[in-house]
Amino acid sequence: MAKHILVLNGPNLNLLGVREPQTYGADTLADVEKLCRSAARAEKLELDFRQSNHEGELVTWIQEARGKFDGLVINPAAYSHTSVAVHDALRMLDVPIMEVHLSNIHAREAFRHHSYVSAVATGVICGLGPAGYRFAILALAEKLKHHA
Ligand code: DQA
Repeated sequence: MAKHILVLNGPNLNLLGVREPQTYGADTLADVEKLCRSAARAEKLELDFRQSNHEGELVTWIQEARGKFDGLVINPAAYSHTSVAVHDALRMLDVPIMEVHLSNIHAREAFRHHSYVSAVATGVICGLGPAGYRFAILALAEKLKHHA
């Protein structure tokens, strides 16, 4: 049976393409979804792709992912830097978790240097733009090959 992965996107990522293109690039979230779907297809993974501006909705989706998905890619956006609730929900998810940021959060304002998600992530990719999502999916595919 095909493994199923979930890609979650946090607040303001619905405005990719128009939002600070000098930082986040010209691709829209629909472009990122297309890229994720083609990466997942190439790895024979099924994929759900979602975005929310609401912390509680992201927490609920992470809770509901337990037992349903084999891996998670998450760009928590601003909640990376603020959300103990997202951190706690991720702690209960016992599948590989890849944290992705389009921008290099370490090269930006000090308040972006800490992520509550990194401590519970299997791996972190930042600064590579939308390609970071593809690399995260490849990393999950590799991990899942070793997880019967
Ligand atoms: C982001 C970086 C965060 O600091 C910011 O709040 C975002 C996007 C990124 O993808 O680079 O909304 O997660």
